[in-house]
Amino acid sequence: MSQAWWRGAAIYQVYLRSFADGNGDGVGDLAGLRGRLPYLKDLGVDAIWLNPWYPSPMADGGYDVADYRGIEPVFGTLEEAERFIADAHELGIKVIIDVVPNHSSTESAWFKEALTAPETRERFWFRDEPNDWQSIFGGPAWTQVADGQWYLHLFAPEQPDFNWDSPEVHADFENVLRFWFERGVDGFRVDSAALLFKDAERWEDLDPVHDVYRRWREIADEYGDRILIGEVWLPDQERFARYLRPDELHTAFNFDFLSCPWEPAELRRVIELTLATHTPIGAPPTWVLSNHDVTRPVTRYGRADTTFAHGGALHGTPSDPELGTRRARAAALLAMALPGCVYVYQGEELGLPEVEDLPDAARQDPMYARSGGANRGRDGCRVPLPWSGESAPFGFGGHPTWLPQPADWAPMTAKAQTGDPGSMLSLYRTALRLRHELLGDGTLTWLPMGPRVLAFTRDSGLTCVTNLGPDPVPLPPGEILLASGPLTGDRILQDTTAWLI
Ligand code: GLC
Repeated sequence: MSQAWWRGAAIYQVYLRSFADGNGDGVGDLAGLRGRLPYLKDLGVDAIWLNPWYPSPMADGGYDVADYRGIEPVFGTLEEAERFIADAHELGIKVIIDVVPNHSSTESAWFKEALTAPETRERFWFRDEPNDWQSIFGGPAWTQVADGQWYLHLFAPEQPDFNWDSPEVHADFENVLRFWFERGVDGFRVDSAALLFKDAERWEDLDPVHDVYRRWREIADEYGDRILIGEVWLPDQERFARYLRPDELHTAFNFDFLSCPWEPAELRRVIELTLATHTPIGAPPTWVLSNHDVTRPVTRYGRADTTFAHGGALHGTPSDPELGTRRARAAALLAMALPGCVYVYQGEELGLPEVEDLPDAARQDPMYARSGGANRGRDGCRVPLPWSGESAPFGFGGHPTWLPQPADWAPMTAKAQTGDPGSMLSLYRTALRLRHELLGDGTLTWLPMGPRVLAFTRDSGLTCVTNLGPDPVPLPPGEILLASGPLTGDRILQDTTAWLI
């Protein structure tokens, strides 16, 4: 089936700040993560992707990196990171870390030097006059420094953009990749991968970016079996596919699938388009339902409008948790049955909802402040995980947690869900185990079951059927391996996925 591990991997995303707190300060850390590695082993994931763990003032949750060769002290130490990599490897779990090449932090040594020694400003985008670009987080994309010049930041003012026309920037990032490859990491998730180059008119998807990834690919290949995953938000599939040519990035996140409404024709269109984009270039597709930037699926799928779009316009619109959970379960089995890699964002396997009623004073996402509160931001999917117990911090670690947890999360804890055959956690555990045996990379063959049903078989003989229509539908012949919800006899009900062999 799959040749290289990454072609069919199930990759679990750890948002370190909110995963598990080992030292009791209310913030997740490496000690907490190391302690919970057996949980991830039991869950059945092949790799972990960690959001940035570098020293950072946390103006954007660590995506404002002050030092690419260190570990944020709140998370631990470099030695601990190395021990974590070794522990994960011992359990057969690969480790992927984030690299943030588009921008750094105003607290980085280079930016501080740029302020005091203007001749070094070449590494960033300093100009005498700003243009009219707006920051992706809201507000102008330029900030003025004391001597009158302006620097570019596509995100928060604390995140100055690098100038990729500077050879020093290239050399430094190549060294950063080597630094971590030598410490055993198995790959990098490349943040904002399409943004690196800018010209007078455009700040996205300029051609020279591909030369950077060709060089990075050579470096990754030198170390053997290491991978590069792109965060590439581009609506044009042809442009997107260019990042996945055989000598560039290995894979990229499928944001079309994540943003797709729970609607059969749209889902089928996105799945087919994804396969059509990836197959000719030989890159495995990826299937993503959530991450640290988007509304949790249980909440999204419980709304009348099940799409996702940045901007947060749907925040707080009514959501039916029962419906959302039913659909999220069906979506998970659908995603896991498709050819390629699947991502699981921490807490997705617990069926956590988006926490939409966080007190405003607790909100930390710069999107919230920069939009003057119009965009409620991404904190609601970043709330510390509930592990056990009846009240906050639900076994997370110290209290108070850096974002408050809802008081009613006792039934959502990993402990409460363990051993309950009907829980989201049990569904994910079973599905990931079966997926490991029967699925991964390869092809699919659609089965004609009507316009409201998505049904296909895989090379292993597994059939996946998702019914999105109101009428119960007879299942094709075969033994039922797993279903996301109850079946009536041989019929599959609305918003349910079944796997058969
Ligand atoms: C990516 C990250 C997001 C971050 C942004 C700026 O989109 O996923 O969390 O805010 O880049 O680094």
